[in-house]
Amino acid sequence: MAEPTTTRPDFARIDAQRLPELLRVMPKAELHMHIEGSLEPELIFALARRNGVDVPYADVEELRKAYAFTDLQSFLDIYYAGASVLLREQDFYDMAWAYLERAAADNVVHTEMFFDPQTHTARGVSMQTVIDGLHRACVDAREQLGVSALLILCFLRHLSEREAFETLEQALPLRDKFIGVGLDSSELGHPPEKFARVFARCRELGLRLVAHAGEEGPPAYVWSALDVLKVERIDHGVRSVQDPELMERLARDRIPLTVCPLSNLKLCVFAQLSEHNLGALLDAGLVATVNSDDPAYFGGYVNQNFTETFAAIGLQAQHAWQLAANSFEGSFIDDVAKRAYRDRLDQVFASF
Ligand code: ADE
Ligand code: ZN
Repeated sequence: MAEPTTTRPDFARIDAQRLPELLRVMPKAELHMHIEGSLEPELIFALARRNGVDVPYADVEELRKAYAFTDLQSFLDIYYAGASVLLREQDFYDMAWAYLERAAADNVVHTEMFFDPQTHTARGVSMQTVIDGLHRACVDAREQLGVSALLILCFLRHLSEREAFETLEQALPLRDKFIGVGLDSSELGHPPEKFARVFARCRELGLRLVAHAGEEGPPAYVWSALDVLKVERIDHGVRSVQDPELMERLARDRIPLTVCPLSNLKLCVFAQLSEHNLGALLDAGLVATVNSDDPAYFGGYVNQNFTETFAAIGLQAQHAWQLAANSFEGSFIDDVAKRAYRDRLDQVFASF
């Protein structure tokens, strides 16, 4: 194995014009994407036909036109409706496989995919159908695409704590097929504290813990995700900049933020991509990463997020390296695998 590199690459050598190519070829991990948010309209219609499910849009174009969101809730309504075409194990496999192929094309070498089982179990689809289909795609991705893929089960925060506990119970027989739990859906009015006990139980079970916080919600939700739920990463977290003490805590404890710039733009968290605070998060020393969230709905997969954001806010080669290095540091793989990915990243930069 190559000796670990401790020095940073010589960024000054890299011509700014070649930045889009660098962003494309650099190996990276994706740590925040909802697999149901990768369902492209074409696949929604194909699965609807295969399963005899009615889609209340005439065609792909009409469905895409409906993707004009004003906030998180306006997106979630259409996102949950889109997921209603998923019924069988093969449907979950096909959805995950389509994403994994696109991730591989973006040089994503490791991905940690969220799934929302309650969206499916509420429609009578079994937990086993969901997890088996997604997990089979993860196994095939490692063998056929060279992408390592892990699953994180998310609780829907607009539902009750009791329903989260029931979901956990249903999933535990399949415990070896997912590595952790997260918290997603409508943030405002559903603070992390609501799920304190279920997260405590997950912690006892040795599951890895993450939560969406500070997307639309206040810095107080980020504090309670950290101190009450005891999460290891914050999904989004962009509103943390409103609280200098919180920024210090995130930097000091190297808590990764899984930032999703195109999602933030489409859900009106920022009015313009040029106003995005990714650069400020990096400047403050935070372990920020770039991710696609719901790529089929927000206009792009992870490399699109990189290239559009870099162009909009003027980031450079050293930021590209930092974001990719952060993505490996913030992942739930072991230290040896992290080191190997970091070496691969450094080699790409050295020979670019
Ligand atoms: N579920 C899917 N995408 C989400 C997001 N951006 N925020 C909260 N819940 C989600
Ligand atoms: Zn998300």
